Amino acid sequence: MIHHQLLIVGGGLAGLRAAIKAAEAGADCAVVSLVHPVRSHSGAAQGGINASLGNHPDSGADNPEHHAFDTVKGSDYLGDQDAIRILCEEAPGCIHEMEHWGTPFSRFDDGTVAQRPLGGTQYPRACYAADKTGHYLLHTCYEQAVLRGLKVYDEYSVQELVVEDGACHGLVTYALRTGMVEGFTADAVLFATGGSGRIFGRSTSALINTGTGMAMAYRAGIPVKDPEFVQFHPTTLYGTNILMSEGCRGEGGYLLNSENERFMQRYAASFMELAPRDLVARSIQTEIDQGRGIGGKPYVFLDLRHLGAAVIDERLPGIRDICIHFAGLDPVEEPIPIQPGQHYSMGGIDVETDGGTCVEGFFAAGEAACLSVHGANRLGGNSLLETIVFGARTGTAAAAYVRDHVGGPAAHAPAVGRALDRFTAKLDRLLARKPTADAYAMRAQVTDTMDSVVQVFRTGQGLDQAVRTLRDLRERYEGVAVRSGGRIFNLDMLRVLELDTMIDLALATAEAARARTESRGAHSRVDFPKRDDIEWLRHTLAYRGDDGPRLEYKPVVIDQFKPQERVY
Ligand code: FUM
Repeated sequence: MIHHQLLIVGGGLAGLRAAIKAAEAGADCAVVSLVHPVRSHSGAAQGGINASLGNHPDSGADNPEHHAFDTVKGSDYLGDQDAIRILCEEAPGCIHEMEHWGTPFSRFDDGTVAQRPLGGTQYPRACYAADKTGHYLLHTCYEQAVLRGLKVYDEYSVQELVVEDGACHGLVTYALRTGMVEGFTADAVLFATGGSGRIFGRSTSALINTGTGMAMAYRAGIPVKDPEFVQFHPTTLYGTNILMSEGCRGEGGYLLNSENERFMQRYAASFMELAPRDLVARSIQTEIDQGRGIGGKPYVFLDLRHLGAAVIDERLPGIRDICIHFAGLDPVEEPIPIQPGQHYSMGGIDVETDGGTCVEGFFAAGEAACLSVHGANRLGGNSLLETIVFGARTGTAAAAYVRDHVGGPAAHAPAVGRALDRFTAKLDRLLARKPTADAYAMRAQVTDTMDSVVQVFRTGQGLDQAVRTLRDLRERYEGVAVRSGGRIFNLDMLRVLELDTMIDLALATAEAARARTESRGAHSRVDFPKRDDIEWLRHTLAYRGDDGPRLEYKPVVIDQFKPQERVY
């Protein structure tokens, strides 16, 4: 078994930022990642990273308190205000650090970091690097990791978070390149494994974002907080659902229906296309559902033509490239067909503001975690910020933990050994079994169910149906088998293993959504259209039980901004 004091799972922005902090604090830490770090999904983030720098001509009066207020209001008051204050207060320092590490931010003429408006904010505060902000930040952090000689185990799929008696002992992994099942022991483990977007079919997420990390924590007894809060990005490219950044609307793009109408006038007269995402996604879906999609199809237009080629090439070059290569159209000449699609998991592993969990020595950060800084609806530009601010804080806390809790390999090897035996037996069963169920058809059933009834608009009836289907899939999973026998890069094996955890998370999402009989942020119940602060101003905690998820609840931290009606 391999031993490190601290294992960080996930080589995206949260994981790398945590690892850099932990290494600086003197911890022996390593990153374990399913893909090479620069292929992490953080690299797909486009529009920007929020900080109240006040560089934009319209944002001179901005400050962290305004940023916090926008975030709380955007969250439909479900965000925890202590965590949100940390996020917003540390944002300017975070941008300066990334700038000094070399992130090539776009600039205003005076040389300051450029900022653009994203949805739901009083002031333009998203710092950006064209429309490839995540890509540049990820490479910046990776360079810093290389500079510090950080050890990365890439192309390892984590298959079990080993927890016994309330303490974390390490990991069971499947090393894709060698085909070996390998155990890691550690005094602490930090998950920065990203979101679970791929439990949906129409999603902007990378194919690796099946939520395995979240599900491993869930299986180890740690609750998933607020799984019902799933963000649907308003503008994903029709056909492939690739992200068409909110930066497009931040730069002045319009949304048009089949009547060539800027329909946001009817839904958010003052914020228009720059209302928060939950509202814009519902508006687009309503236009489509009421027959005003283009040519009767399930999309409307995102129109950038009036911005002109020069602005598009300078600020949205990636969007132009994607449209040309994936839709065969040039947005300088033609409007872009878009529809809402899953984009982000507001919910995740329940963590405190230092990333700690209810399990000793287990931490989480980034999209895998739920602090909750996004509550019921995340603002654009706050997720990159969260990865860096809370990645760093969690890395610091985990390093302090391993300094004070020196166990060493011998303390953890027996528990990891038992987990290795369990996983090897599971693999043997999957490889030996004569299948009675088709894992790929079942995976399509999971994603079709989520797309059709756990989507922008939800009903009790639809959610009942989702729960029935997913419980049935849970039982049928016992009939699936791995058909490809090889061990090296056995993607069939990986998909079959992923299906197991996808069903768990999809079921937790559907059950939590069925239980929440109100509409708040991105959770929109047609049968309960109003927000209900008396009954539902609380976080869901989903625990995995033998019989499916067990739901408990905990209070929201509200210590500054009292809940009000959201008007945009
Ligand atoms: O639309 C976007 O560029 C996405 C930004 C975000 O999710 O923060």
